[in-house]
Amino acid sequence: MGPYRLHMKTKTAPYAATKLSDYTPGALDDAVTMLLCAVDSEAAALEDESEWKAFRDRWMARKNGILTQINDLWLKPAPRDAKREVGQRVNEMRSRVEDTVEQAAERCRQSASQAHLASDWIDISLPGIRRPLGAEHPVIKTMNEIVSIFRNLGYSVEEGPEIETDYYNFESLNFPPNHPARDTQDTLFIGQQDSKPLRDRLLLRTHTSPVQIRTMEKLKPPIRIVIPGKVYRKDPPDASHSPMFHQIEGLAVDYHIKFGDLKGTLDHFIKALLGSTVKTRFRPSFFPFTEPSAEMMVSCFICGGSGWRAADPCRPCKQSGWIEILGCGMVDPNVFEFVKQNGYDPAQVTGFAFGMGVDRLALLKYGVDDIQLFFQGDVRFLKQFG
Ligand code: PHE
Repeated sequence: MGPYRLHMKTKTAPYAATKLSDYTPGALDDAVTMLLCAVDSEAAALEDESEWKAFRDRWMARKNGILTQINDLWLKPAPRDAKREVGQRVNEMRSRVEDTVEQAAERCRQSASQAHLASDWIDISLPGIRRPLGAEHPVIKTMNEIVSIFRNLGYSVEEGPEIETDYYNFESLNFPPNHPARDTQDTLFIGQQDSKPLRDRLLLRTHTSPVQIRTMEKLKPPIRIVIPGKVYRKDPPDASHSPMFHQIEGLAVDYHIKFGDLKGTLDHFIKALLGSTVKTRFRPSFFPFTEPSAEMMVSCFICGGSGWRAADPCRPCKQSGWIEILGCGMVDPNVFEFVKQNGYDPAQVTGFAFGMGVDRLALLKYGVDDIQLFFQGDVRFLKQFG
């Protein structure tokens, strides 16, 4: 053997109860000591609850547990004069064994819960998980600003479906079937509807104007409403186009509405949105559902109308000093014909309507150069508006 000894754990045969050949007090002492040593060392080796259960049964099972065997092997065959002494020893031993089994149970339970804690602990000194605060999306923010300007003028808010019928999106707005004006709006149609009459066929609304008709079917004149919402067109996405974008529509119908009311209202609106220094200008245009129709231009609020930003040409207004903001016009009497039975007799009522693209206004307002950024959901972009 070298200088080092390996400590070898030797496996001894498990304790087994045997008959006593000698009932003298010394022999009894030895037998009891051996048994108690065995139960103690077995208890010390237990590692979990299932081992403990086997251990308990081995010693205490009523049927063939070691304690029961001791009764049969030691007590029953004891000579008369030793019976009392043996009975007493066996009873003491039994309660020692019971205590040992009980304590072992407690230890196994504790080590199980410690193992559980070790694998599943929580460091309460770590910082918590911070939920990032959301910010209002720049398009929604712009929309809310526009809507609130009109609310202050006494307008209320109406909404309508994004999946619309041909009737509301086109026909009732004075786009007759097959009329070339329909081609100005690259429409996304919903397929497999050829069996339906044209007016019932579904499409994604190309503008918020169908809600004009829906509202006039519902409410009698006079009305003042704005209609914010999403619209869809078959435009491939690029820096200034998106197949989904946002509009706000406006409609005022009453008994004495004139073109001057339209001009005054929209001039007030754009000054409230962009500041009182901007100027407005109206240019003739065409929409099937307004007559006359116009486009409102606003003096460029990026370059102040000069067409230049220091030494650089102003890109948003293409150096013209003017930016086109919205389409508008006096409601065409043909449109009122579709809702005549609800009080909109074209001989009695007049009105104006307007519609603007919110995304483009938000682009200009926040100096963003790509509309796609609005819809990619990149938090690094959106956070800047918080
Ligand atoms: N709906 C028109 C468009 O999307 C805008 C518009 C609305 C024009 C109301 C006139 C009146 O282009």
